[in-house]
Amino acid sequence: MELRSSHWYAGTDRNASIHRAWMRRGVPGSAFEGRPQIAIANTASDLTPCNRHLSEVAQSVRDGVYEAGGIPLEMPVVSLGETNVRPTAMLWRNMAAMATEELLRANPVDGVVLLGGCDKTIPALLMAAASVDLPAVVVPGGPMLTGTFRGQPLGCGTDTWRLSEEVRAGTMSQAAFLDSERAMIRSRGHCNTMGTASTMGLLAEALGTTVPGVAGTPAPDSRLLEAAHTTGMLAVELVETDRRPSTLLTRASFHNAVVALAAIGGSTNAVVHLLAIAGRLGVELTLDDVDAIGSRVPALVDLQPAGRFLMEDLHRAGGFLAVLREVEDLLDPTARTVLGTRLVEHLRGAEVHDREVIRTRSAPLLAEGGIAVLRGNLAPDGAIIKPAAASPHLLRHRGKAVVFESIEDFRARVDDPDLEVDADSVMVLRGCGPKGYPGMPEVANMPLPTKLLEQGVRDVVRICDGRMSGTAYGTVVLHVAPEAAAGGPLARVRTGDWVELDVPGRRLHLDVDDDELAQRAPSPASAAAYAAPRRGWERLYVDHVQQADTGADLDFLVGSSGPEVSRESH
Ligand code: FES
Ligand code: MG
Repeated sequence: MELRSSHWYAGTDRNASIHRAWMRRGVPGSAFEGRPQIAIANTASDLTPCNRHLSEVAQSVRDGVYEAGGIPLEMPVVSLGETNVRPTAMLWRNMAAMATEELLRANPVDGVVLLGGCDKTIPALLMAAASVDLPAVVVPGGPMLTGTFRGQPLGCGTDTWRLSEEVRAGTMSQAAFLDSERAMIRSRGHCNTMGTASTMGLLAEALGTTVPGVAGTPAPDSRLLEAAHTTGMLAVELVETDRRPSTLLTRASFHNAVVALAAIGGSTNAVVHLLAIAGRLGVELTLDDVDAIGSRVPALVDLQPAGRFLMEDLHRAGGFLAVLREVEDLLDPTARTVLGTRLVEHLRGAEVHDREVIRTRSAPLLAEGGIAVLRGNLAPDGAIIKPAAASPHLLRHRGKAVVFESIEDFRARVDDPDLEVDADSVMVLRGCGPKGYPGMPEVANMPLPTKLLEQGVRDVVRICDGRMSGTAYGTVVLHVAPEAAAGGPLARVRTGDWVELDVPGRRLHLDVDDDELAQRAPSPASAAAYAAPRRGWERLYVDHVQQADTGADLDFLVGSSGPEVSRESH
C-alpha cells in the first residue's frame, strides 16, 4: 500500500528532505518510513467551552495511534462555541468545514480522527472529511453530567428558556434565575439535553462514523478516554484497509441516521446538517426523505426538551445502541460502521436498564417522533416542525398572523401592551434565513408576549425562516424555504392574514388567493434585512449559501474535492 503521506516523505530529493527535516524534532526516522500519519482534528478551544476537554481526549487518541504503529499529529481546527459566537455559529459552520477540508488536503496526512462536541463542530468535521475523503473516524466529546438546582436537575438550554419565561410570567424571581446560572454547567462536556450537540454525537454513531457504543458517553467518564484510545488505533487500521467516507457512508447510513433522529427525539438542526453531509458525498437525500423515513418512527427517549431526563440518564439506561435495538426493524441492515461491521451487528448485546428513560415501542414517548416536513404556498420548498416539541392542541390550527420584520422588530414590539396578539395568533418572524440574517440563527422559538404569559399561555404557533435551538420547544415551524430574503412568499405575509397549520396533513397555508399574493410587493423590511456584507466570509457566504431545504451549504462546497494535491510548495 502506498501512503498518501509518502508523496511528501519518501525519496531522496530536496523536497522530501525538507518535509522530513522540519518534522523530525525528536521524532524517530521510522516515522517517515511507511507509518500512517494520523491527523487529530481538534476543536478544543477556551472559547468553545463544551469542547475544552478535547485536548485530553486527543492525548488518548495519540496513545492509540502510536500503539497501532501510526504517527499522531494534532491539528487545531476552527472551533465554534454555540453560546458565544455571533451572529450565529451556523454562519461559520461551512467556513469551519472548508478550512478543515483544505488543511487536510494541504498536509501530509493519511487519515484523521475528528474531535467535536458543541453543535456545529461534528457536522463541520464530517462535511470536511466527506469532501476530502480520507479515512476518518469521530470521537464525540460527550455530554456534561447533570447539574441540579434546588433539588431539581437542570437541563442545559431547555431550562434556561423555561426559567426565563417563568421570570417574565412573574412566577420566578430574577435572583433565583441568576442563582440557577451557577448550577447549570456541572462538568466538562456539551449540553446534556437532547439538543444539537447530543443529537449530532449520536447521529455520527448512527452513520457508522464512530466506534459503536461510544456516543453519549459523558465527557468526564473514563470510558470516553478508553474509547478515544481505541479510536486512535482504529484510525491506523482505516488507513491500512483504505476505509474512507465514500466507501462507508451510503444512503443506508443516512436512512439509519434519520430513523435514529426520530427515535431519540433529536434536534431539528440535524436535518440541515444531514442534508449538507449527504451533499458532500453525493448521496441522494431530500427533505421529503427525512419525512418519509423518519416522521412515523416513535420517539422512545424521554429526554428534554421533548421529555424529562438528560444525557447522563440515557447513558445509564443503556445508551444509544439500546435505543437503536428497539427500532432495529426500521434500520437498513446493510449500513456499515468504521469497524467494517454492519451497524445492526452491534445491537445484539445492547440492553435497556431503565424503561422510564428508554421507552418500549408499545409505550413510546410519542407515537410519531420524527421531523415533519410541511409544504404550501408559504413554504413552496418546504419547512419543518418537530411535533415532539410542539403542543398537541396546536398541530392543527388556524390563526391570524402577527408579523415581525426582523428579530429587532420582534424585540421592540413583543411586549407592547397594544400588540394585537392572543392565544390563537400565529407569530411570524422573517428575515432570519441563511441570507437574511445572515447565517440562519436560532431565533425561531420567539419568546411569548408577556401579556400572554401572564394569562397562562405557554405556546402559540410560530413560523420563521430561521432555526431554533435543539434544546428549545414549542409549536414552531422552522427553516421556511425559500426564506423571505431570497424572495420566498414569507416576505408577502401581512399582519391579519389567516394562516393554516396542519401538521398531520403536512400543510402550511396562507389564506390569501394566489393572484393577490403575487401582486403584493415583498415587505421592504425583509429586503433590507438581507444584509449586504462588504467583505470577508459573510460576503462569500451570502453570495453562495443555499437554502435550508438542501442543507444551507455553499454552492461551491457541495461534493468532493478528494485528497489529491499534486503541486509542491517549493
Ligand atoms: Fe455547546 Fe450546547 S452550547 S453544546
Ligand atoms: Mg444550539
